Amino acid sequence: MKNILQKMILVLPLVSFLYASDGKTLYMEANCQKCHHMDEQYDPRSEKVTSLHDLKGWVLGCANNFGIEWFPEENKQVVEYLNETYYHYTEE
Ligand code: HEC
Repeated sequence: MKNILQKMILVLPLVSFLYASDGKTLYMEANCQKCHHMDEQYDPRSEKVTSLHDLKGWVLGCANNFGIEWFPEENKQVVEYLNETYYHYTEE
């Protein structure tokens, strides 16, 4: 039992790291950064995005507009990546 716990503690950060970098990879491959110059642009104080719900809407909207066909799961990963990196919303 102790052994399993130790393994989980070792593996968990690795899994969450991979997961986070996935959203970033998707984002980069879709060329979102062509228009979005990262740091300056995504701002939690922006009036356009005031919740996780808004953020989902924007990611979907921009992806649709520019012909990116992400699966819902991929869309979610990009939302999580942007949220973890820039917005830090906890509520829908
Ligand atoms: C051709 C240019 C362009 C591309 C490519 C693009 N966007 Fe956008 N995006 C915009 C514009 C313009 C806005 C509105 C920004 C504004 O008015 O402040 C926007 C807004 C957003 C916002 C809300 C930003 C905020 O905090 O106000 C998000 C999130 C976003 N885009 C995500 C994405 C994602 C994800 C992709 C890749 C699939 C993407 N965008 C690709 C032009 C683009």
